[in-house]
This record gives sequence, structure tokens and C-alpha cells, in this order.
Amino acid sequence: MKQQLEAIRAAARQALEQAATEPDIEALRVRFLGKKGELTGILKQMGGLSAEERPVIGQLANQVRADIEGAIESARAHIKEKALAEKLKAETLDVTMPGKQQILGHKHPLDKVLDEIKEIFLGMGYSVAEGPEVEYDYYNFEALNLPKDHPARDTQDTFYITDNILLRTQTSPVQVRVMEKQKPPIRVIAPGRVYRSDALDATHSPVFHQIEGLVVDKDVTMGDLKGTLEEFAKRLYGEEAVVRFRPHHFPFTEPSAEMDVMCFECGGKGCRLCKGEGWIEILGCGMVHPKVLQNCDIDPEEYSGFAFGMGLERVVMRRYGITDLRLFYENDLRFLHQF
Ligand code: DAH
Repeated sequence: MKQQLEAIRAAARQALEQAATEPDIEALRVRFLGKKGELTGILKQMGGLSAEERPVIGQLANQVRADIEGAIESARAHIKEKALAEKLKAETLDVTMPGKQQILGHKHPLDKVLDEIKEIFLGMGYSVAEGPEVEYDYYNFEALNLPKDHPARDTQDTFYITDNILLRTQTSPVQVRVMEKQKPPIRVIAPGRVYRSDALDATHSPVFHQIEGLVVDKDVTMGDLKGTLEEFAKRLYGEEAVVRFRPHHFPFTEPSAEMDVMCFECGGKGCRLCKGEGWIEILGCGMVHPKVLQNCDIDPEEYSGFAFGMGLERVVMRRYGITDLRLFYENDLRFLHQF
């Protein structure tokens, strides 16, 4: 029996030394120490021993059990250590490796200049208004004093969706929407996309952007309009910017004007940028037509206002000397990264 016990001890040690996984160890524990295990099997036979032999064998059996238990413990510890070492090795961080460069995007030139323009008007106490791009004929034309057969409608090349729903051709309808909801004093700008049925070329696009402005209050005069827009031009183009106003016609303003800035490339002498004119047209503007105020339930005897509208693409093209408008929409990073 003594030899059997020694044999079990040796076999268990050897097997546990080779055990590589937790289930292996558990299987060995059951095999040697389990209820039907080898050691238990020996102990069951102890009843047949003499009174002298029994304590000796009993003691030895206890030693063998303790030994096997110890071997199991160390086998488990060994597996854990090995796993940890492997994990650490796999997670090694080489701090000398060069980093991966993150490429940062940046604002589109149209957004960059739009933000500047917004900032200028927000600083003058304006807020930003929005309106739908799919618009009713009423807001885009009718309420702005362009009745159904008005010739100025032809110049707008409209995309119609139904007879009275269209893609807005200008941001001016936002004026009407603001005045319907809000009573004076009103000071808003309304930037946004507009649509015209134009073929795409270097200076035309069926989709482009405008920025509308509207001020309505008591005693607003043409002087306020000129002062505001001149200040705007100086903030956008620099203190030395010179502007001029030319009479013009818009159905929704009376009187109406266009504002030019003296060409910042040639200083008014005439060059390629200003096409020899010396001046660059920036926006349309005027005093809000009394009929437009009336259409919005604002009494023209009590209130007056001015409005203006400019094309964002044009402003940005002139700012950066860009000669082809299509570049804005082609998503060519070689172009976009220059701003
Ligand atoms: N909506 C005009 C256009 O698209 C621009 C414009 C001119 C807007 C004069 C105005 C304005 O508010 O007063 O050509």
C-alpha cells in the first residue's frame, strides 16, 4: 500500500508539471483526489490494515494528499503567471514608434467668409433668421411685389415644383417670413442656399448662396442703409475700402441701389479682377417698398426699413481671386486646403 501511495504521488507530480490549462489541472484533481479518485480508492482499503500499520499508512496518505494539493496550487499559479507574461508581451508599447498623424479638416472657404460676415452683423446687433429652400410663390415673388406677370420674374429662371411651390430664387422671401412673425424693431440677416435654372459654368451655378439683410424700425433712412453697408464693407475688406452706391431697380425696394467696392486689386485703375471697371459690384439694396411692409401688416406710415442681398460665392471669389465658381463644389482638396 505504501508503494501504491508513492506511485500515486509520483504520477500526480509528473502529470501536474505537464498540465498546461486550467481544465487539465481540474481533470487531474478529480483523477487523484476526487471521491472516486485514486487516492480515495487506496484509503478505502485501509480497513484491512493491522492496528500498527494503519497510523503509518494514514500519515503517509495525508502527506501524499497535501503534496498533490500543493502541486495543484503551484501548477495553477504557473499557468496564471504564464498568461500574464504573454499578455504583457502582447501589449508592449513601443514609445519610440513614430505616431500616426491625424489629418485635421477645416472650414470650406464659403463657410469661412460666411462666418466672418455673420460675425460683423451680429456685432451690429443683428440676429440670424432662416427660411425654407422649398418656398411658396407667394413669399418668393408675390409678397415681394413681383406679381404673376412681372418681367423681373423672367430674370430669376425659377425651378417650379408646382404652380405655386418652387425652389427659392433668392433669400428675400425670408424678409417676408420674418416680418409676418416679428414686429419692429427688426434687425436680421438670412444666409442660405438659393436655386436658379442656370447652366453650370465659371460664373453660374444652379445652386448658390445669398445673404439677405433686413432692418425695420421707426425713422430708418437711406442714411442708415449707406452707413451700415459702408461699415460692413470696411470690416470685410479693411478700413481703406471705398464704396459707392449706384441707382438700380428691385421691385421690393424703393429707392433701390447697388453697392460697389473700389477694386482692392488695382485701387480703381482697372484690372483683370474688376474687368477694367475699377469697381466691383457687391450687393443690391434699398428702402423696403411700402407695399412689402403692408403685405406683412406693418404700417408704412409708422415704420420704414432697408434691405440688402448679396451673393456669397461672388464675395468669396473676389476676396481670394478665385476665377471659377465650380471649384467651390468639386471637393478637390488641393483647392480647399489653400484657405
Ligand atoms: N434678391 C436680390 C437678388 O437676388 C438681391 C437683393 C437686392 C436683396 C436688393 C435685397 C435688396 O434685399 O434690397 O438679386
